[in-house]
Amino acid sequence: MHILLTGASGFIGQTLMQALQAQGHTVKPIARRYGYDFNQLTTADAWLPLLDSIDGVINSVGIIGQTRTQSFQVLHTQAPIALFKACEQLNIGKVIQISALGADSAARSAYHLSKRQTDDFLRASILNAAILRPSLVYGDKGDSTQLFKRLARLPIVGLLGKGDQIIRPVHINDLVATVIKALNTPPQPMTLDVVGRQEFAFRAWLQFLRRLQGITQPLRTFSVPIPLALAGAQLGQFASPLLHPDSIHMLLRGNSAEVQPLTAFLGREPLDWETLL
Ligand SMILES: NC(=O)c1ccc[n+]([C@@H]2O[C@H](COP(=O)([O-])OP(=O)(O)OC[C@H]3O[C@@H](n4cnc5c(N)ncnc54)[C@H](OP(=O)(O)O)[C@@H]3O)[C@@H](O)[C@H]2O)c1
Repeated sequence: MHILLTGASGFIGQTLMQALQAQGHTVKPIARRYGYDFNQLTTADAWLPLLDSIDGVINSVGIIGQTRTQSFQVLHTQAPIALFKACEQLNIGKVIQISALGADSAARSAYHLSKRQTDDFLRASILNAAILRPSLVYGDKGDSTQLFKRLARLPIVGLLGKGDQIIRPVHINDLVATVIKALNTPPQPMTLDVVGRQEFAFRAWLQFLRRLQGITQPLRTFSVPIPLALAGAQLGQFASPLLHPDSIHMLLRGNSAEVQPLTAFLGREPLDWETLL
């Protein structure tokens, strides 16, 4: 197939591009690195020329925090909806949207709400789109993986409250396998949470990443009161878009879902984390 892949220069996009090419697909990459900016692609007309002779579309553009030039509304909603409207006009047979776990009816953060708006558009459209909602994605090329690995190496780490927020990280290979499977099965409208085999409390996840890096002494932690963390994030957001109170709320909400639907779709369980050790 000839596939248009947005976010092709990102962690997930790069890994997907290699896997798609290894499967014999050709890929048209879209990202600023390839000369395409979502800020300029907010109408279906802007997308139509890029979709010439494309059989499948995968949208993997996303940001975790907003800046003056990068907004959730444009990057997660306006430009993707314009892309999918163009897909409708051309009757593109395969459409896959990389959304995020939590972009559901309980969503409250601007990040999740902007993703859900696009997912809702797709669910109502004529496209038989596969909407994949990954939890935290683990992979050595991932920024969050590198950040958490660095945190896990520290002699002592401050955790939100008791660090008992529940997460269910998924390995990048399981996400890629899900995308490939969705491409290779007859199109059917689907919203699938893409989560890992095991749940971890955030504290236990850092402990796992510590063991993964060969550090045997247990992680030492101290508790950061949640109101203090929220106040810090209120100020910190001016230094980094990541340090936003929304990020704290997202972590507090947890990041987990049932794994059984993914197991049924893949025909196997997701990767067992112990194998990484
Ligand atoms: N990583 C995770 O744990 C995780 C979990 C759940 C959901 N997701 C979702 O998965 C998707 C991919 O995430 P990722 O981890 O691969 O993120 P990433 O490494 O930060 O990659 C983001 C991609 O978006 C592109 N991009 C950003 N701004 C753009 C713009 N204005 N115009 C065009 N392209 C733009 C970037 O390319 P340029 O910088 O070259 O433009 C890059 O290719 C996102 O939608 C994210 O929300 C990720």
